[in-house]
Amino acid sequence: MPHADSAMIPAGLDKVAFWAHVHEQLRHLLAGQRDWVCTNLANASSLIYNSLYACPEFGSGERMVNWCGFYLHPTLFPAPRFSAPAAAPPAPERLLLGPFCGKPACQLIHVAPGRARGVCADAYVHRRTVLVPDVDAYPGHIACDGETKSEVVCPLLLRVPAAAGAEAEAEAEAEAGAERALGVLDLDCLALGGFDERDRDGLERIAQLVVDACDW
Ligand code: SME
Repeated sequence: MPHADSAMIPAGLDKVAFWAHVHEQLRHLLAGQRDWVCTNLANASSLIYNSLYACPEFGSGERMVNWCGFYLHPTLFPAPRFSAPAAAPPAPERLLLGPFCGKPACQLIHVAPGRARGVCADAYVHRRTVLVPDVDAYPGHIACDGETKSEVVCPLLLRVPAAAGAEAEAEAEAEAGAERALGVLDLDCLALGGFDERDRDGLERIAQLVVDACDW
């Protein structure tokens, strides 16, 4: 099957069946590929965006999902290989824009205490999915696209395995059983109330699939 066909959606799916279908398609698409930024997150954002576009349940036109993508902790981005490293390392208190589908978006999201603002920052800092039926009513919402009316943001949480070796013992002790927040998966919709609990549940499963499918 050509890769593009993985975003084709069978007729008659309700939202629960839709998200189960997308999960299965994404599982196949990511199988055997562990590279996260250049490959898996790019394909994940494309598959979700185009699947939503093809799904009558989400409608089109005024109800379209207009943005789907990732914001990520800056230390996850590859260090320069062929150019001189930047004078200052990337600031750890800001998420950076990762792979996405849709119009150009904000590059940075502040997540430091006192400066954290917006839906993505809240999902990342509190490590929980945030459903926003009306972005204008959400305190601190960052408007990357003035046409967006509703939004859902899901954190990417990596369960940290116990590290091996004496050197890593302290770190392992501190983090054993802990989850590390890697970033967020963000979807925007042109309609008010574009997302509901079924989307939240479906996206949380998708986010976990993406986290598990990649080497971070
Ligand atoms: N609205 C988001 C910013 C990201 S864009 O929607 C792509 C927020 O409030 O964090």
